Amino acid sequence: MSDADFFNELWTYFIAIITVVGMLACALLLWQQGRQKVAAPGDADNTTGHVWDGDLRELNNPLPRWWMWMFYLTVVFSLGYLVVYPGLTTYRGSFGWTSAGAYELERAALEKQIAPLYAGFTAKSAEQLGQDPEAMAVGGRLFLNNCAQCHGSDARGSKGFPNLTDSDWLYGGSAEAIRTSITDGRNGFMPPMGDAIGGEDAARNVAQYVLSLSGRENDPVRANLGRSKFSACAACHGADGKGNPLLGAPNLTDRIWLHGGREADIVQTIMQGRSGTMPVHKDRLTEAQIHVLTGYLMKISGASEAATPVASTKP
Ligand code: HEC
Ligand code: HEC
Repeated sequence: MSDADFFNELWTYFIAIITVVGMLACALLLWQQGRQKVAAPGDADNTTGHVWDGDLRELNNPLPRWWMWMFYLTVVFSLGYLVVYPGLTTYRGSFGWTSAGAYELERAALEKQIAPLYAGFTAKSAEQLGQDPEAMAVGGRLFLNNCAQCHGSDARGSKGFPNLTDSDWLYGGSAEAIRTSITDGRNGFMPPMGDAIGGEDAARNVAQYVLSLSGRENDPVRANLGRSKFSACAACHGADGKGNPLLGAPNLTDRIWLHGGREADIVQTIMQGRSGTMPVHKDRLTEAQIHVLTGYLMKISGASEAATPVASTKP
């Protein structure tokens, strides 16, 4: 995206003209005020004729020299500033300073500073990081800064945003799958299915069948009618309803719901479809940071505990 998406180029000239004319006008006003005294009615005794509190009279003197020079200095300073830094139209300033460049420099300096710390982390596997309290502290902070706004500060998610602390994964809970979810993002998409199964009433039957899949209370007659329509869903959720991590199609046989497990929620899911986007993070986080986050999620979801026996059997 360029500046041109926001501003017409003419605006930059408009602003430049106001800036320069404003500064010159200030200087002119100072110069003029420093030379002339305004003729005032009471000028005979060098006062303006204004009197307060009985005897307090306002003298008609020009501003003190040192005071004037301070103002001149501010004008010179702002002119110098506009030479050195970008401020006038497309002129880049003699330093070549840009806010993006300054940010990059700061970021590079910070990355250099934390590189030794992260080198220690990247030497370990995501599972092993779970045993490293320092890595978990860093992971927790990364999570709060980058992920909590969607997944919640406790990572338990909310409607439409998956809980990352349980062992139920849309896209898989291996280190590789979690890393890919963070690095490249994910797009889960279920189209509206009302037409494919024959309308709202059929959707209610299928919803009863979905409830039966996780052993929840359901209407057996409707569930039985719904079962025959489930073939329309099997391509994504599997014939047994256990889901498909390649598509992010949720397992419907557990009692963990992304979009709500009440009958009304399920009917709405079927009729209107659902979608969710996990944003791409490879531009925002370094590989090492994503590695630490992967270890952090495996730890809080218990996935690294399940995987550690190999490591913990070592003497
Ligand atoms: C703008 C909101 C948003 C942000 C920010 C966000 N996520 Fe997500 N994330 C989602 C959504 C929505 C999904 C589910 C995508 C779907 O429905 O297919 C998801 C899915 C995931 C998954 C896959 C879960 C599974 O069950 O397979 C992981 C892992 C994940 N996010 C980790 C993170 C981490 C780590 C961060 C911070 C670096 C983060 N997310 C930041 C919205 C977000
Ligand atoms: C094209 C693949 C596809 C088809 C076909 C499909 N689904 Fe889905 N379904 C998904 C995906 C992907 C999600 C998760 C959407 C998201 O990431 O927000 C989902 C979500 C759901 C959910 C929400 C689960 C939860 O945990 O809240 C239910 C219920 C559901 N589908 C039932 C069905 C039923 C019933 C059918 C058949 C009528 C069906 N789906 C057909 C892909 C599909």
